[in-house]
Amino acid sequence: MARRRTLVSTSILDCDLSDLARESLRAFKAGSDRLHLDVMDGHFVPNITFGPTVIKRLRHVGKQPFDAHLMISEPGRYVDQFIDAGCDSITFHVEVEEPIEPTLLKIRKAGRQAGLALRPATPLATLEPYRELLDIVMVMTVEPGFGGQSFMTDAATKILPAHELFRDREVGRPRGQVHVDGGVNRHSAKLCGELGAEVLVVGSTLWQKGVDIAREMRLIRALADEGYENGAGRGEADAGARTERGETA
Ligand code: DX5
Ligand code: ZN
Repeated sequence: MARRRTLVSTSILDCDLSDLARESLRAFKAGSDRLHLDVMDGHFVPNITFGPTVIKRLRHVGKQPFDAHLMISEPGRYVDQFIDAGCDSITFHVEVEEPIEPTLLKIRKAGRQAGLALRPATPLATLEPYRELLDIVMVMTVEPGFGGQSFMTDAATKILPAHELFRDREVGRPRGQVHVDGGVNRHSAKLCGELGAEVLVVGSTLWQKGVDIAREMRLIRALADEGYENGAGRGEADAGARTERGETA
């Protein structure tokens, strides 16, 4: 049995939006480690969802972390409101046409986790200038804007190398995490684990009619953990053994 490592962050984008509190509680009761909140402004992506006011009203549900995924063109203009709403992490897109660093610094100054997300076509190298300010790298494996899309395997190839952005992390700073977001389900979970993803954002597959959310979440987590043991985890274990033996990494 693989050691439990993978965390699930449930996306509520495709839940019954007429009762967000009930659906969020259902996700937590089913074992979700975090809640993934997809904020869309109808400009950065061709869809509009909800904002900080809704998140603030939802915050009383559960104690688990809230992860805001901002698919908006002006994250700097609204970031204070998402901090005030109680988001534990705030991730916005590196493709926005405004300064990135001040917003990352503001999130961290508020004691929250700061993240940058990448559209499928955006290379990982665009994050290099910000790597010291990142706690989360969110690899999108669908075009942002809608749930229920198919997993883009070619975009997933960024997951393993994304961990390099957290190398030689300043002492005392928690390790960074790679979140994979879009089309994650029982068919793509193993690959996500093989590539070392720490957090799997899981949405529509949980909200299908008749699905046992808790069972589906356990299956996805187990597949990802198994993938990790046979993939990135084996690589890390081998590297650790070489270091133990005094061999160069
Ligand atoms: C898409 C969102 C994702 C999506 C995940 O723009 O960022 O979080 O809701 O849902 P599924 O798992 O259905 O792709
Ligand atoms: Zn998302």
